[in-house]
Amino acid sequence: MAETLSHPMLPHPYVIRQVRKETPDTFTLELEPDDGHHHPAFAPGQFNMLYLFGVGEIPISISGDPTRPLPLVHTTRAVGVVTNAMRALKRGQALGVRGPFGTHWPVEKAEGQDVLIVAGGIGLAPLRPAMYAILAQREKFGKVVLLYGARTPSDILFRRQLEQWRAQFDLEVYVSVDRATGAWRGNVGVVTKLIPKAPFDPRNTVAFVCGPEVMMRFTVAELEKRGVLSRQIFVSMERNMKCGIGWCGHCQFGPAFVCKDGPVFPYTEVKELMTRWEI
Ligand SMILES: Cc1cc2nc3c(=O)[nH]c(=O)nc-3n(C[C@H](O)[C@H](O)[C@H](O)COP(=O)(O)OP(=O)(O)OC[C@H]3O[C@@H](n4cnc5c(N)ncnc54)[C@H](O)[C@@H]3O)c2cc1C
Ligand code: FES
Repeated sequence: MAETLSHPMLPHPYVIRQVRKETPDTFTLELEPDDGHHHPAFAPGQFNMLYLFGVGEIPISISGDPTRPLPLVHTTRAVGVVTNAMRALKRGQALGVRGPFGTHWPVEKAEGQDVLIVAGGIGLAPLRPAMYAILAQREKFGKVVLLYGARTPSDILFRRQLEQWRAQFDLEVYVSVDRATGAWRGNVGVVTKLIPKAPFDPRNTVAFVCGPEVMMRFTVAELEKRGVLSRQIFVSMERNMKCGIGWCGHCQFGPAFVCKDGPVFPYTEVKELMTRWEI
């Protein structure tokens, strides 16, 4: 029986303890196991398969603090059938959880070096656990720089947390919006525009990048222009998934399966594939 329960294709029931609206189309769910299931520790960048009963199952990154695995935190942008149905869920309702799966942001590789985190839109959610992990052992890293781009000021994710981080003396946080609205007096333009002036040493920096693929391609190009070594850059890829554990081939990306060889890849491994569409 215990074996059946731990089967990687079997979702565990989790109950929603809190629902938080982050932006007009993004929400965070805090979940706790409903069957005494012990959610394994997760590493920054890993994802769970979330199953909305009768609707479907989708991969969503864990956006919480890896040093505090429960409640399990997921931040989702409503874009289609499952994510919109998930947005309608209320506190006390249940969904299924399988995971955690996939590779992680190699925070340990950045020890002794500067860390640059570049996020676009919902891409900040999979990177937030990396920020938590770095801040939990801040003394091990050089400069820590976060560059974040959102479409408009109202689309800025985790706004209060970004403000708190920006107020810290040992962090550099820069935010830019594509389109300024309302009282916004901050940076305007795509996130890549922040790279030339960002305060890190390009020869001694590990970069973690997550956002739409086009944003990641331009970000990597700008980082290389500044002298960051390709092998020091890591990106997180998204592909449609079914099994999440390397069985079905649904997430194939060239020779790799994004669910098990990714989602976090060294840029050097996906460089060629990222220049081609529809892989
Ligand atoms: C490893 C991994 C981690 C992920 N982590 C997160 C996360 O933390 N938060 C999050 O919000 N999403 C995340 N995603 C994306 C998420 O899985 C998809 O948005 C979700 O599967 C869409 O399902 P749906 O049924 O709502 O949309 P569908 O009904 O399948 O799609 C509806 C429409 O939305 C489009 N669409 C689908 N996915 C996206 C997308 N990502 N962006 C824009 N348009 C899209 C489709 O092309 C289609 O036109 C992750 C994906 C992967 C592979
Ligand atoms: S989702 Fe099945 S192999 Fe990746």
